[in-house]
Amino acid sequence: MLGQLLHLNNIDSVIVENRSKEYVTDRVRAGVLEQGTVDLMLASGVAARLTREGLRHEGVWLAFNGDRHHVNFTELTGKSIVVYGQNEILKDYIEAREALRLPLYFEASDVAVEEIESARPRVTFRKENTHYRVDCDFIAGCDGFHGICRQAIPATAIRTFDKTFPFAWLGILAHAAPSSEELVYALHERGFALYSMRSPTVTRLYLQCSPDEDIAHWPDERIWLELRTRLKTGDDWQINEGVIFQKGITPMRSFVTDVMRYGSLFLAGDAAHIVPPTGAKGLNLAAADIRVLAHAIVSYYRTGASDELANYSEKCLRRIWKVQRFSWWMTSLFHRFGNEVDFDYHRQLAELDYVTSSRAGMTTLAENYVGLPIEAPIPV
Ligand code: PHB
Repeated sequence: MLGQLLHLNNIDSVIVENRSKEYVTDRVRAGVLEQGTVDLMLASGVAARLTREGLRHEGVWLAFNGDRHHVNFTELTGKSIVVYGQNEILKDYIEAREALRLPLYFEASDVAVEEIESARPRVTFRKENTHYRVDCDFIAGCDGFHGICRQAIPATAIRTFDKTFPFAWLGILAHAAPSSEELVYALHERGFALYSMRSPTVTRLYLQCSPDEDIAHWPDERIWLELRTRLKTGDDWQINEGVIFQKGITPMRSFVTDVMRYGSLFLAGDAAHIVPPTGAKGLNLAAADIRVLAHAIVSYYRTGASDELANYSEKCLRRIWKVQRFSWWMTSLFHRFGNEVDFDYHRQLAELDYVTSSRAGMTTLAENYVGLPIEAPIPV
C-alpha cells in the first residue's frame, strides 16, 4: 500500500519480505474493510477486483439471549463496510507492483536495519546467495508484531503497553454459502461466536475457546455443533454447513508502543500495535497508519518540511488508542470471562440490550465499526 502510494508520487521504494509470495497471498487473515481502507485502494488504482468481488455490508447483527438485533451502519452513519480478504488485497497490490516492475523481494533472509538514528539508514538482506544493501532516506517497519524493526529501537527509547485476554478464537473456513448476508456477533452462555464470510460460497466462522486449546480436540462435527448452539436464534435462522478446509487458533491480545518513530525508522501496523480481532480493526488500523505515513513522506519530498514526519507518531497514536478502546470494548462485551451465569454475564446482556435498543448506543458502535476519521489526506 505504502509502496504504491509513494510510486504514484514518484518516490522510489524497495519492499523486502521474508515470506514467500505464496505464503502471503494464500494465508487467510482479516476480511472486513472500513470505507477508509477501500478509499486507499481506490486511490492506489488497485481496486478493480475489490469493486467487483467485495461484499458491501450495511450493518451487522448482534445476537444474545436467543435473539438477533440488526445495527444499520448506513442509516446511522451514512457509511458501510466491505468484506474482502486481506490476502486478496495483497494479491492486488503485488500484481500492481510486479506489472510496474518495481523492486519487491520475497523470501529475503538475514534482514537487518542499520544506522536508523541517522538520515541515511540502510536495510541489508540476503536472497539466495546474493547480499543486498539498500541505502535510503526512510525505513517503514511494516513487518508485524514479531518483526525486526520495533526491536531495532533501543529499549530506553520506547515503552509498550499490553493486555492479554484469557481466551482465544478457533477459526474455520468452510465451503458453505453464507446464510446471513451480514456478520453475526453472538454472546452465548457457552462463549462468543462470530458468523462471517469471504465470498458467496465461503463461510468464515469463529468460536471463543481457551488460549491453550488443542485443535485436535475439535473434529468438524464438534465445531458445527458448538456453532449451531451458540448462534441459535429464535427467528429460525440456520447456518449452512459444509466442508471445513482450514482451522486455526488465534490468540487475543492488545498491544501498543508509545512511539512509532525512531530517527529514520517508522513503524506501521502490527509492528506497533495489536488489537483483539473482535472489532475487525487490525488491518484497517494498519492501513490508517500507512495513509498518515504516506502523507508525511510525500509532504517532506514536496516541501522539504519535516513537521508531518515529526507528527507521525502522535497523530497515529491518538487514533490507535481510540481503536484499542473499541476493540477492547467489543471483546469485553461479547466474551465469557468465566463459566458461571454471574453478575458480569447479566451486565453484558444488559449492555447489549441497551446498545441495540438505543439509537445513541447503536451509533457509538456503528461509527467506530465503520471507522473513525483519519487525520491525513490520501496523497494521490
Ligand atoms: C473475519 O471475517 O475474518 C472477521 C470478521 C469480523 C471480525 C473478525 C474477523 O471482527
